[in-house]
Amino acid sequence: MKICVIHGSNRKGNTDATVEIIKEQLNLYEEIEYSDIYLPKDLPCFCAGCFACFEGEYAGQNCPNKQYTHPILKTLLSSDGIIVACPCYALAETGQIKVFFDHFACTFINHRPNEEMFDKIGLVVSTGAGAGTGRVVSTISRNLLFWGVKRIIKFRINMFAANWDEMPVQKRDKVKKLLRRKASRFYRLTKDRREIRKSISVQALRRIFKGLVNSYEDTQPDKIFWKSKGWIK
Ligand SMILES: Cc1cc2nc3c(=O)[nH]c(=O)nc-3n(C[C@H](O)[C@H](O)[C@H](O)COP(=O)(O)O)c2cc1C
Repeated sequence: MKICVIHGSNRKGNTDATVEIIKEQLNLYEEIEYSDIYLPKDLPCFCAGCFACFEGEYAGQNCPNKQYTHPILKTLLSSDGIIVACPCYALAETGQIKVFFDHFACTFINHRPNEEMFDKIGLVVSTGAGAGTGRVVSTISRNLLFWGVKRIIKFRINMFAANWDEMPVQKRDKVKKLLRRKASRFYRLTKDRREIRKSISVQALRRIFKGLVNSYEDTQPDKIFWKSKGWIK
């Protein structure tokens, strides 16, 4: 099984500790091939807002930061499951994770989604110190949904400690137990990802956007793409 892990920070701290617990649990089931993407290390630039990603033969083809985005997208598409782990900064997701998702808006359902995403499972994890992890998890999950991801498991926790080892043992054990349960669910869904029924939310979004895409000029790239897929006539 191939799992891609997007780390919303370069820091090997609390959030990384949660990823390690998840990995430990997943490794009990089978040998897993992990691809770890650290931000901002692996995507160290802002989206230019140039709209070039919406043009071209495929979504993102002409992104000026394609030296970073193309290998990342290739890794994502070849993975069975996607884990996004991000700490909470200033009541929200880290700036670098926002920048990361900005680069892939061209692959949203309403534009030119990658069909491979319709069979993928996501796990979103956030750690914080008191307030804001709910927003982090919801923003990241919404992005995964708009990529077309089939099922999204969510987990958030307030550590109240700058480092994992500073947390009381009892609390650490509780977090481990909860994370192992989420990791097991993520494993089962990822293993059966092709068999489980389609996502109702993804299907609903596709229906909603059908009318919008249909209203575009025939030369509009999203419309050409939707037509080529047979999603509109
Ligand atoms: C710049 C900065 C801002 C933060 N803002 C918040 C916040 O608004 N809400 C919160 O709950 N925690 C906040 N925290 C605490 C971190 O989210 C928390 O310690 C988290 O577990 C850190 O994850 P890490 O060890 O993986 O970096 C902030 C931490 C930093 C460094």
